[in-house]
Amino acid sequence: FPTTPRLLLQVYHNPGYLIIYDIFANNLATKWVNSSCSNLLPHEIIIITVITIFFTFNLYNFIFENDKSFFERVKVGFFYHAKRLPIIRSIVKQQMESVLNEVSAEKLFPLKSGMHYLNKLPIRGKTHLQIDRVVEEYLSLDDVDWKNGNVSGTVYGGDAGLTDVITKVYKKFAWSNPLHPEVFPGLRKMEAEIVRISCELFNGNPQTSCGSVTIGGTESILLACKTYRDWAYGKGIQKPEIVCPVSVHAAFEKAAHYFRMKLVHVPVDSVTRKVNVSAMKNAISRNTCMLVGSTPPFPHGVLDPITEIAALGMKYNIPVHVDACLGGFLLPFMSDAGFPVPPFDFSVPGVTSISADTHKYGYSPKGSSVVLYSDKKWIHYQYFVSPDWQGGIYATPMFAGSRSGAIIAACWATMMYFGREGYVNRTKKIITTARYIEQGLRKIEYIYVLGKPEMSVVALGSLDFDVFRLSTELVKRGWNLNNLQFPASIHICCTMPHTHPGVADRLLQDIRESVDIIMSDPKAKATGAGAIYGMAQSIPDRSIVTEISHGFIDALYDTGSKSVANGNGYAK
Ligand SMILES: *Cc1c(COP(=O)(O)O)cnc(C)c1O
Ligand SMILES: *[C@@H]1O[C@H](CO)[C@@H](O)[C@H](O)[C@H]1NC(C)=O
Ligand SMILES: *[C@@H]1O[C@H](CO)[C@@H](O)[C@H](O)[C@H]1NC(C)=O
Ligand SMILES: *[C@@H]1O[C@H](CO)[C@@H](O)[C@H](O)[C@H]1NC(C)=O
Repeated sequence: FPTTPRLLLQVYHNPGYLIIYDIFANNLATKWVNSSCSNLLPHEIIIITVITIFFTFNLYNFIFENDKSFFERVKVGFFYHAKRLPIIRSIVKQQMESVLNEVSAEKLFPLKSGMHYLNKLPIRGKTHLQIDRVVEEYLSLDDVDWKNGNVSGTVYGGDAGLTDVITKVYKKFAWSNPLHPEVFPGLRKMEAEIVRISCELFNGNPQTSCGSVTIGGTESILLACKTYRDWAYGKGIQKPEIVCPVSVHAAFEKAAHYFRMKLVHVPVDSVTRKVNVSAMKNAISRNTCMLVGSTPPFPHGVLDPITEIAALGMKYNIPVHVDACLGGFLLPFMSDAGFPVPPFDFSVPGVTSISADTHKYGYSPKGSSVVLYSDKKWIHYQYFVSPDWQGGIYATPMFAGSRSGAIIAACWATMMYFGREGYVNRTKKIITTARYIEQGLRKIEYIYVLGKPEMSVVALGSLDFDVFRLSTELVKRGWNLNNLQFPASIHICCTMPHTHPGVADRLLQDIRESVDIIMSDPKAKATGAGAIYGMAQSIPDRSIVTEISHGFIDALYDTGSKSVANGNGYAK
């Protein structure tokens, strides 16, 4: 025990620590340590100290400094090694092969008889007429009827009048690219206006609020996470943490994965399905770089308490992101439509950014979304600049370099075509339909509605039967709803096609009849896609689920055995 620390304590005038130091320095432990080191040479003491510190730090890191809890890693490790035991390995392999057989393109996306895949460029180009004819053939594969409201979410507007408007605008901007604003200044004006209009809708300060048009909700979320990560780096935080409800969109997990951040999931209340704010407060650490709330989260259509989350952000000086990707272009019109909602946007002190999808309830074609900030000081962390690139000084606000100008123009045209009144009218229709469906569902026995849906999404579960059987029954009847897990449930996300007369009643009638059929044998197991979902939820080793998912993505690009090698036509 050298005298230096004692001197330091004296310098900092800390009598409390001095007393503790003196007691410790003179006690038996000290004498024991000194006597056991008396046989060691100084360099041995140094080496032992260094090695001990090294192992202590590594052990600490191994146990605590990981994205997954120690227990979870031990569990995963156990299954990983168990899977490699020869007997188990052959069983798993067999099972995997049979499952992967089911997730092939041939099974999931069968072609019609006489159809083939192309796997080569056609030698001679086709005429406009020929292409038109063949395109119709490809479209004939689509047998889910989204136009008549048979699908949850997916196509939010699909208005025929709008289709005419946007395709005309698309044609005019087909070759444009916002990467070259000097070549396409008109497009730049449109993009800037989309951001300004969106900021205004979310009560941003006209002077300081700002943002970007991105290619979708996922990009908006990834950008916000990158922004706060880089801000945290600037503050000296080495492993920034995202604190978010367990119900947030998977894009936050993607961000954590891509940007080497840690995702801290906060539980939601099991009844209201809203984030538990006191648990969120407990999850905040000195590494926290952002808090997240969703309006609404994708699964259950309730609103996280943004005012309370933002208050936490203010208290601990942590930026707060509101994921309004889904609800973003419904919420600002809710009160005019007769369904007031609590404040969720820049009017709430502490909210620093918002993501909102113009390609969902903004009704524009897929490929556009906005990410907005309360202040310009944030967005500069989003930008990327390469001052030294041989191709010139390169500066972009988001991930993409070249982008489609036509999609931005179509988004702008959609906003102009509907205007505030159009959005309010559509919001009214959609929310009215969702409330009607919710009330209808609450009257059906053996199922329950999760939380109190405040927006366009209504989720349902069952305590009496495997709810994925209902999903399979509904698929048989031509419906395509979303399967959710933890807890097992399904939801319908209401869009314009569901507001057409009779659609909601048709859905309720089909659910009623399906529940009757299921309850004639309540204990039976699900089949089809529902069975896969049920099974996926119950496997503790999530790497198996990942492997099956890889198989699914592979299937998307599978051109199977039925391909035409001569490149001489699309199909017979
Ligand atoms: C749709 C959605 C997103 C983003 O999804 P994209 O498919 O990338 O547009 C993010 N959050 C929520 C709540 C969503 O519903
Ligand atoms: C919210 O979280 C806190 C702290 O983790 C816990 O004590 C409380 O019971 C939770 N509340 C609900 C309603 O789950
Ligand atoms: C919206 O609804 C109102 C009242 O029903 C109607 O007067 C108006 O024309 C509608 N506007 C649009 C753009 O559909
Ligand atoms: C849409 O759903 C209805 C059931 O309400 C069904 O009768 C119809 O066949 C479905 N359409 C398609 C194309 O599957």
